[in-house]
Amino acid sequence: MTEEKNISLEKMNSFRVIHMAKKLISFESKDEVISYLKNNKSEIDDILILGEGSNTLFTKDYNGIIFQSNIKGIEIIKEDNESITLKVGSGENWDDFVDFCVNSEYYGIENLSLIPGSVGAAPIQNIGAYGVEINDYVVRVSGVDLSTNTLVEFSNKDCEFSYRDSVFKKKLRNKFFITSVEFKLYKKLPFNLSYSDLEKLNTSELTISKLREEIIKIRTRKLPDPKSKGNAGSFFKNPEIDENKLKNLISRHKDFKYFKIKDKKYKVPAAWLIEKSGWKGYNDGFVGVFEHHALVLVNHKSEDGNDIHILSKSIKDDVRKKFDIILEEEVNII
Ligand code: FAD
Ligand code: EPU
Repeated sequence: MTEEKNISLEKMNSFRVIHMAKKLISFESKDEVISYLKNNKSEIDDILILGEGSNTLFTKDYNGIIFQSNIKGIEIIKEDNESITLKVGSGENWDDFVDFCVNSEYYGIENLSLIPGSVGAAPIQNIGAYGVEINDYVVRVSGVDLSTNTLVEFSNKDCEFSYRDSVFKKKLRNKFFITSVEFKLYKKLPFNLSYSDLEKLNTSELTISKLREEIIKIRTRKLPDPKSKGNAGSFFKNPEIDENKLKNLISRHKDFKYFKIKDKKYKVPAAWLIEKSGWKGYNDGFVGVFEHHALVLVNHKSEDGNDIHILSKSIKDDVRKKFDIILEEEVNII
C-alpha cells in the first residue's frame, strides 16, 4: 500500500486537467483495503474510487481520499476444451489484458481492444465497442463493500448490467471497491463483425490478431489519443427514444439518424445530434469538440476541468432545444 498527500491529479485523468487531491491510497491486495478501513472508519464517506481516470472529469480539487487499485495478476480459475475462466486483478490495464487474451487465442473481448482504463473499471459502465459489451463475458465481480468492510461477490446477474450502466455505477458508486473480475472466454468463437466498418472484412483470412489490429486502426482513425489531446472518449451516452418521439423527429428533420434496438425503441447517435447542433470542431482555444467525432469533447490547453463541464452544458442545452432530447453524461463528473 502507498499513501500520498496533496497530490496533483494531472497524470491521473485523461482530460489532463490539473486539480489536486488531499490523499491518494493505492492498494496492492484486498487484505490491505480491509485493514486500512478497520483503522480509518471515519473516512468512508470521503472516498472516491479512481482507476486510470479515462472516464472521469475533475472540475475541482478533491478534498477527500482517493482509493486506487494496484492489484495485479491473471489467474486461471477453470479450463476445459471449449473455454477458460480467468480471474484478473482490478489494477491491471484493460488493453494489456485484451492483448494477453488475443495472444493466447482466448476469444470474446477482441472487439474491446484499445479501450483505455483499468480492468476494475470495465464492469462499472459495462464497457462496449463494435458490437460487444463486457457483460457477455463477466462471470463474477469481487471486492470490498466499503460500508461494512466485508468481501462481497457479485454474479453476472447481480451486476445489473445494461447499456453503459451497472449496479456499481448507480447505488454502489464509490461504495464498492472492485478487487478482481472473472471473465469466461472461449477457445473458439465466431467473430462479431456486426459493426458497419467490420462487415467488409474477409472472414476466410481473418484471425483474432488481425481483428484486433483492425479495431485498433478504426479507433486510431476515429478517436483522439488522450496522450496528445485530453479527452474521455464519448462524453454522452447515445439516447434512447420511443416510436412517437421518433415519428415527430423524422417529420421535423428529414435526415434524422437512428437505429432500432428493440420493439418500438430506438437509439439516436448523440454524435449526430451534436454535429447537427453545430458543435463539431468547435474550439475556443482552451477546450472544444473533436473535429473528427462530435461526441468527443477535447481539452486543448485548459488546466480547469470546469471549462469542459461548462462546454458540455452548452451542448446539452442546444441539443435539448433543437431535438427535445436530454443527453445523459457517460463521463463521471467530480
Ligand atoms: P476511471 O475513469 O478511473 O473510473 C471510472 C468509474 O469507475 C468511476 O466511477 C470510478 O469510481 C469507477 N472505478 C474505477 N475503478 C474502480 C474499482 N476498482 N472499484 C470500483 N469502482 C471503480 N468506454 C467504452 O465503454 N467504450 C469505448 O469504446 C471507450 N472508448 C474510449 C476512448 C477513449 C479515447 C477514452 C479516453 C475513453 C474511452 N472509454 C470507452 C471510456 C473509458 O475508457 C472506460 O470507461 C474505462 O472503463 C474507464 O477506466 P478507468 O480505469 O480509466 O476508469
Ligand atoms: N456520427 C456523426 N458525427 C460524428 C461522428 C459520428 O453524425 O462526428 C454518427 C455517424 O453517423 C455514425 C454514428 O454517429 O454512424 C455512430 O458513430 P460511431 O460509430 O463512431 O459510434 P458512437 O455511437 O459515437 C459508440 C460508443 C463508443 C464506441 C463506438 C464503437 C457510446 C456513447 N459510445 O460511439 O464508445 O467506441 O460506439 O462501438 O455508446 C465511449 O463509450 O467512450 C466510446 C468511445
